[in-house]
Amino acid sequence: MMRVHVSSSALGALLVIGCVGVIFHASAQNTKGAGETGDKPYHVVDGFKVDTSTMNGFRAWRAAACDRCHGANQQGLVGPSLLESFKVLSKEDFIKTVTEGRLEKGMPSFKTSPIVMGNTDGLYAYLKGRSSGDITRSKVEELK
Ligand code: HEC
Repeated sequence: MMRVHVSSSALGALLVIGCVGVIFHASAQNTKGAGETGDKPYHVVDGFKVDTSTMNGFRAWRAAACDRCHGANQQGLVGPSLLESFKVLSKEDFIKTVTEGRLEKGMPSFKTSPIVMGNTDGLYAYLKGRSSGDITRSKVEELK
């Protein structure tokens, strides 16, 4: 009897330590990137109020006129739908595509565009949020 009691409370203590570890780990991750929550690279409220980094991504999207080929709502035009692409595209592939372009296929290189190159994280976050459906409209506003 006594043995069982001791070992089960020891197990309980282990579980508590485990949980604290998970919570600590999660909150440490949250402080990493601007506006990051959990595994999402963006922070959005009400579907369109976003963190500064994601907002700057949207500004880059506008300034570089990505919409003239990918559509005002990222739905695709002469370029593919980024709502679909972002379900499978890795961040590395995204940055490579935007930096080098796919010139033979009609995707330009943005290597010489400071606003795009300076905001690849935010641009990725913005498009990821649009693709996941968490950002519900293409025109976003900065979260105050
Ligand atoms: C002149 C038209 C044009 C413009 C402007 C343009 N793109 Fe593209 N983009 C394309 C085309 C066409 C493709 C498809 C290339 C292919 O077939 O692999 C593409 C592909 C992509 C892909 C890869 C999609 C996938 O499924 O692999 C990403 C990501 C992308 N574009 C992002 C952007 C962003 C971000 C901008 C603005 C900074 C932008 N594009 C501006 C035409 C354009």
